Amino acid sequence: MKSKHIDLTVQSFELLFPQDRIQQRIREMGRRISDDYFGKRPVLLGVLKGCVVFMADLMRAVTIPAEVEFIAARSYGSKVDPGQLILSGGPSTSLKGRHVLLVEAVVDTGRTAHSILEWLKSMEPASLEIVTLLNKKGRREFDVSIKYAGFEIGNDFVIGYGLDHDQLYRNLPFIGKVIDTFGR
Ligand code: IMP
Ligand code: MG
Repeated sequence: MKSKHIDLTVQSFELLFPQDRIQQRIREMGRRISDDYFGKRPVLLGVLKGCVVFMADLMRAVTIPAEVEFIAARSYGSKVDPGQLILSGGPSTSLKGRHVLLVEAVVDTGRTAHSILEWLKSMEPASLEIVTLLNKKGRREFDVSIKYAGFEIGNDFVIGYGLDHDQLYRNLPFIGKVIDTFGR
C-alpha cells in the first residue's frame, strides 16, 4: 500500500532555508513594518495561494492594528509562454486612501506583482508597497520596486512554505531548492 504521506522522492531538492531561519527573518520584517506603519492601520493584501504560510507568520509578527485581505492570481499557459494572468477574489473593503502592502511569497519575473499593482493603483490607495518572502532579482522582466524582501535568492526554483511545484509541496515547513524534476 502507498504511504499516505507526501512522497518527497519524486523531487530532488536541497534545503535552502530551515523553518527557524525563515521565522526569525519574518519576525524582523514584521517589526520593521510595524515601525514604518505605526498609527496607519495598513491593509496586508496577500496573493494566493503562495502567500498563505508567509502571511500566517507575517500577520502575527506585525504588532500594530492591520487588516488582512487576499487576492488570487494564477496564470494560464506554459512556462515559456505564461499566457494570461487571471486575478480573482480581491479585497472586501475599499482601498481608496488606504496604506496597502501587497504580500507575496516570491517575486520572480515581477509580472504578477506588476499586474496587481497596476490594478491596485486605480483604486487610489494612500500608499502601495510590496512585501515578499523571496526575491529573485536576477529573473526580473517587469520593473517592480520591493520595499520589504525576506531573502534574495538566485534563479533556482524553490518549493515549500506555501510555494508549489504542480500544486504540491506547499505544506513543507521549510524552503527547498529543486535540483531535479522528474516528469516535468
Ligand atoms: P512572477 O514571475 O513574479 O509573476 O511570479 C509568478 C508566480 O510564479 C509566483 O507568484 C509563484 O506562484 C510562481 N513562482 C515563481 N518562482 C517560483 C518558485 O521558485 N517556486 C514556486 N513558485 C514560483
Ligand atoms: Mg505555482
